[in-house]
Amino acid sequence: MPLNPRDRGFAYGDGVFETVRVAASGEQPLWPRHRARLVGGLRALGIALPDESRLDAALNEGVAALGGEAGVVKLTVTRGVGGRGYLPPVPAQPTVVWQSGGLPVWPERHRREGLVLGLCQAPLYPDLLAGFKHLNRLPQVMARREVARQGWDEGLLLSTRRQPLEATSMNLFARFANHWWMPDLDAAGAGVAGVMRAHLHETLLQRGEKVVCDLRPLSQLRTADGLFLCNSVVGVLPVRKLAQWHWPVLASVRELQQSTETFLAGSLKV
Ligand SMILES: Cc1ncc(COP(=O)(O)O)c(C=O)c1O
Repeated sequence: MPLNPRDRGFAYGDGVFETVRVAASGEQPLWPRHRARLVGGLRALGIALPDESRLDAALNEGVAALGGEAGVVKLTVTRGVGGRGYLPPVPAQPTVVWQSGGLPVWPERHRREGLVLGLCQAPLYPDLLAGFKHLNRLPQVMARREVARQGWDEGLLLSTRRQPLEATSMNLFARFANHWWMPDLDAAGAGVAGVMRAHLHETLLQRGEKVVCDLRPLSQLRTADGLFLCNSVVGVLPVRKLAQWHWPVLASVRELQQSTETFLAGSLKV
């Protein structure tokens, strides 16, 4: 069905989306986390989806369209069509659409040797809807353009107080002497708390590792033993350079990268 140009997702970014990695077996190990964030986003926007099983049905259609190949299914849910200007119609009829496609190709060199990051110029401003994958992603679009213009592999976004928050489409972890660190996005009121970040946080805690979540000045990253970025589609990518600072690819990061790949590949052999 063609998208109605009066759909509020198109007109105002009035909706949410998720990009779900699907294994060749058809499994989607992170779907429960994606689904929870999607439903949370809909609640935060006040979009009533009378039947949440529409989400599972749309995902299943997208998975079937992959025809047994590994790939991604993107689900977008908007408030639907209509209303007077910004004021939403009551009741609204949400639109649920899916798209499926292959996995993005990340050079093997990035996986093995790590990414070169640059510092994005514009800060990430606090946002009442931070944490949800809503359709208003202009700060990330502008930051991604900057990354391409500068020839970096990814860009680090800072808070208005110049604290590292996340990359354009990935979350940040760092290893310090006796703990792992991730930026406290809730405290910053900015950024997207990724489902891979939540999965890795839980994995590290289950292994008995210490994970600290707070906000730190940019200068503290220099003293980290190593850094990595993560998201639900590409998994874990080490960082080797940010501006003038360099880090080795830690064995512990390689191991997390490997175990994440295994997790994303699903438990069923194909
Ligand atoms: C701005 C932003 N931050 C973080 C992430 C990582 O989120 P996830 O692990 O849920 O893929 C994404 C994913 O696209 C993102 O767009």
